[in-house]
Parts: sequence; C-alpha cells; structure tokens
Amino acid sequence: MDRIRIVGGNPLNGTIAISGAKNAALPLMIASLLTEETLTLDNVPRLADVAMLKRILGNHGVDCMVHGKRAGQNGLSGETLDLTAGAIVDTTAPYEMVSRMRASFWVIGPLIARMGQARVSLPGGCAIGTRPVDLFIEALKCLGADIDIDGGNVVARAPRGLVGNRVVFPRVTVGATHVTMMAAALARGETVIENAAREPEIVDLAQCLTKMGARIAGAGTATIHIEGVDRLGAARHSVMPDRIETGTYAMAVAMTGGDVLLEGASPAILEKPLQVLSEVGAEISATNSGIHVRRNGAGLSPVDVVTAPFPGFPTDLQAQLMALVCRAQGTSHIRETIFENRFMHVQELARLGADIHLDGQVAIVRGVSRLRGAQVMATDLRASVSLVIAGLAAEGETVVNRVYHLDRGFERIEEKLGGCGAAIERLTA
Ligand code: UD1
Repeated sequence: MDRIRIVGGNPLNGTIAISGAKNAALPLMIASLLTEETLTLDNVPRLADVAMLKRILGNHGVDCMVHGKRAGQNGLSGETLDLTAGAIVDTTAPYEMVSRMRASFWVIGPLIARMGQARVSLPGGCAIGTRPVDLFIEALKCLGADIDIDGGNVVARAPRGLVGNRVVFPRVTVGATHVTMMAAALARGETVIENAAREPEIVDLAQCLTKMGARIAGAGTATIHIEGVDRLGAARHSVMPDRIETGTYAMAVAMTGGDVLLEGASPAILEKPLQVLSEVGAEISATNSGIHVRRNGAGLSPVDVVTAPFPGFPTDLQAQLMALVCRAQGTSHIRETIFENRFMHVQELARLGADIHLDGQVAIVRGVSRLRGAQVMATDLRASVSLVIAGLAAEGETVVNRVYHLDRGFERIEEKLGGCGAAIERLTA
C-alpha cells in the first residue's frame, strides 16, 4: 500500500490548480442513469472514487467513454466523460460495490425513477459514525415507492412510477436531497423538498438536471420544487470546483506560511472557511483567477468553530482546521455536529506532538510551538489529508500510511504540493 513521505518546514509558494469537486462529480455521474441519451461531463477529477463509480455504473449498463486530451490540456486538467445509459441492464447494486463507497447507494434514486425498481446494498464508505439511510428510505416512500430490507439490501419498487409529494427532512442530508431531486425529476406531478441541503453541489446537480430537461426551482435554498417530467435527455455540464480541496490547500498555506494562488477556486462557496482562515491569521484575497492565500511569519490565532450544513463550516474541513490550530498561540474549540466519531485524526495528530483533548463532540486544541514528524496512519479521507497538512509543518520526517483514503478524494496531492515547494513524495509499496 502506498505511503506519503513528507519532510516538514518548507513554506508553500506558487499556484495550485483546483480540480473538479468529487462531491459534485459523483451525483452528476449517477444522474446519467436517468436518461438513455448521453450526459457529457467536463472537469471530472481523476480520483479513485470516480474510477470506482465508473465501474459501478458500468454494471448497470452505463457506457462510459473518456474523451482524449485536447490541445493545451495537461495531465492536471479534469477528464471529459460521455456517460450513456442506453439500456439499464441491471437494477441491482451489490454489496461488493456499495460497501466500498457510500455515495454509490445514491443510484437507488434514478433506478427506481426510471425502471420502477432497484435493489441496492446498504452502504459502507468512510468509517465515520453509523451513517444510516433512513432518510433516503422515508423520502422514496413519500414518492410512492414500496421499500423492504432484504438480506442487507434495500429493495425499492414502484411499478406504476413515482408520484410527486411533499418531502420534509427532519435533518439536513446532502445525499438524500440529491437522491430525492433525481427521483422526483421523473415522478408524476410536483415534489417539494423541505429542509433540503443547501450545499453548492446540490445546486450543481440541479443545474445539470435542468439542462437535461428537469424542472427544478429553489436549489441552494431550504425548499426545492421539482415538477416531474416524462423523460430527460442529453446534456453537457462542467463539474464545479472542489471547495474542500480549495479549503484544504488554503489551510496548508496558513500552516506553512507562503503565498499560493488556488487557481479556479470559487470564493463564493467558501465564505465561512475563508472567514475562519482570516481569523486564524491568513491573508485571503479573491482574484479573477481564483483565491490567493498568504501568511507571513506571524503566529496563528486560536478559533472556536462548529461544523454545520452549508453555509456553515463544513465537516469535511474539520480535520484540516484541527491540524492547523494545533500550532495556534492559544486554545481552540472545534465542535463536530454532523458526524459522530469524526475525530479519528486526533490520536494521529497527537503522535506529531499535538495537544488535543476530546470532550464528547468537542475537541479542545491547545496550541503547541512545534510539531515533530512521526509515522501516522490515515483512517479516513479527510483525516488523512489533515495528517499531510500537519506533516508539512512538523519538524523532520512524517510518513502517512494507508494513503488509499487520500487517493479517493485528492487528485495528485503530492504533485500539487510538491510544485509549491513542499518536500513530499509517494512511496509505492
Ligand atoms: C455528503 C458528502 C460528505 C460530507 C457530508 C456532510 C458526498 C459524496 N459526501 O455525505 O463528504 O461530509 O455530505 O456535508 O457528497 N443521515 C441519517 N440518515 C440518512 C442520511 C444521513 O441519519 O438517511 C445523517 C448522517 O449520518 C449524518 C447527517 O445525516 O449524521 C448528514 O449526512 P449527509 O448529509 O447525508 O452526508 P452524505 O450525503 O453521506
């Protein structure tokens, strides 16, 4: 299994090209199941999760063609994919596939909407809390699906098609909002989703579905209206920039010091994290080409942050922020409200010399003047990248083991950071 070796201490200077968002690319690819015509997606990041989803969709009968490189494109540009679900050959998503990536459970929405049936294994994915699927099931039931759990699978049936309805989520859920939007796009009549997730990736999916012929209003607000249509058709859509990758590199620069342009990043979808970074002591400015992050030698200030659904501080940046404030001059408090058990990076950061105390869902981080390199273990996607950030600022050598988590969500991280002066390399097993 690959490892990442970092020798800390170098500031970051230069330009990092921000990739297409993993969390937008996955639902967009899944939306291809809704039509027999071709969905063309540009700026798709080259990630292990995307490759896995290509395989899963292939199993259902989606033909996936990758466009060749165009003039001027380099290896860092995203891929263009043609996804064509001419015929759905299988409405079953088996355990071997769904257990490896939670988002693949989301195929249940388009499959039941288009085919009137789906059998999808209960998911796995990152080991962060229990992550149930009850809200998906309730939403699909609301749209008229019959649902059974059989042998670890969710079996959904709607032989006469789905019917629009009012779906009220008792808590904000990104995945079930995506799925309800996709399913309702082909249901008869109007669906209203209340307490919908407002994440920018929801807006990106809604824009793509609209290009495919769906009638959706209100995506990006807490109430989404969807007027079902009989069929959806071909469209072309470019995946939005990855706000989590952007925030991660911004925190890396705040940690090491330096001056980096995050090219192609969108400040509008990162308001809260950028505000927190400014409080910590980074200088942030938006330019035409992206976001500029600078920090001179001044010390870092502690912060108190609570994770929350968008537009709050994203849980997907919680681990990275924790790594950053490990070296703040004072005590920070970070409360995780989205996922239980999303503090697995704490014990690994402690190996680098961090002083973190957990009190339920609150991490109390007392800043230390120095971190020291060590062997650490990546436990989930966001935790692993927090260890990379900490390693960049630690004295001496840090080796991050079990890097496959990183490859699920960060495209060529060692090239991007190495290009800005970090001493980082991949050790292949
Ligand atoms: C998505 C993101 C993930 C991010 C998360 C929260 C993708 C591919 N993943 O995950 O990176 O961390 O949003 O921003 O986009 N819940 C239930 N029952 C359900 C569904 C969810 O209780 O049926 C709970 C979850 O356990 C969690 C909370 O709701 O506590 C939010 O989860 P959700 O927004 O659904 O996260 P994902 O869509 O899985």
